[in-house]
Amino acid sequence: MRLEGKVALITGAAAGVDGDLMGFGGASARLFAQEGAKVVLTDIKEEMGQKTAAQINELGGDVIFLPLDVTNEQGWIDVIAAAVSKYGKLDVLVNNAGTGARTTVEETTVETWDGQMDVHAKGTFLGTKYAIPEMRKVGGGSIINVSSIYGLIGSPTSTAYHAAKGAIRLFSKSAAVQYAKENIRVNSVHPGYAHTPLTDPGYSHEVGRAEWCLERIPIGRLGNAYDIAYGILYLASDESSFVTGAELVIDGGTTAQ
Ligand SMILES: NC(=O)c1ccc[n+]([C@@H]2O[C@H](COP(=O)([O-])OP(=O)(O)OC[C@H]3O[C@@H](n4cnc5c(N)ncnc54)[C@H](O)[C@@H]3O)[C@@H](O)[C@H]2O)c1
Repeated sequence: MRLEGKVALITGAAAGVDGDLMGFGGASARLFAQEGAKVVLTDIKEEMGQKTAAQINELGGDVIFLPLDVTNEQGWIDVIAAAVSKYGKLDVLVNNAGTGARTTVEETTVETWDGQMDVHAKGTFLGTKYAIPEMRKVGGGSIINVSSIYGLIGSPTSTAYHAAKGAIRLFSKSAAVQYAKENIRVNSVHPGYAHTPLTDPGYSHEVGRAEWCLERIPIGRLGNAYDIAYGILYLASDESSFVTGAELVIDGGTTAQ
């Protein structure tokens, strides 16, 4: 029961349906509930999110699903108010929602650029901004921002994604420094190439995509949702109480080369 007594909110947490390919948020919701947390799952995919939440509750969890588009400021205000009204407080926020866009600088439209910055950078900023007052009320909290190895290094494409994930990395350090004295910790997680609903179209349908990624992973396999969720669990728990402003890389060795 590593999260006993804690209330957590996770964005992009719809993909946690048993038997289906899971995402980091869905797997984190399952682990958090297993470890005793009450969890508010949020996503723009309502049907899948409701199904994930129902399955977790059938297993003895205490979770709810609420729709949230992380780019919507009023949406954040409403969801945090609803979470606190349901469970009484907020201890943990996981800013995990995201989408990809594999385009070069010249191929990247302003629309793609803005879309990437909105969901990753603005979404993470808004969540952090509105979670902090609630965490202050309970004497602290943990905010976990899901960046990527693409927030640390470049690649042949994904221009706006790199920029947005890099923004999450430094935003996290900035918030960590600002709120450390209030016992609000802020860390970033940097997953490497992993098989999730987000990346499945590439691995399943794009010739050579899986091989291209595997060549870059010393451990020799793609990551899965639980590989990342266990790192998120550590940062959510009090086991990491001296960890703030840190970057947790979970990438099978990709960025060690
Ligand atoms: N899979 C990988 O290889 C990988 C590697 C590094 C980082 N990441 C990052 O991990 C995070 C989780 O991705 P995943 O791979 O687990 O896939 P996933 O598909 O399970 O998670 C992304 C979720 O975010 C949701 N989402 C998209 N836009 C949203 C919005 N505006 N508001 C709310 N929710 C929104 C999607 O509906 C989806 O459920 C993303 O931020 C992604 O960029 C993934």
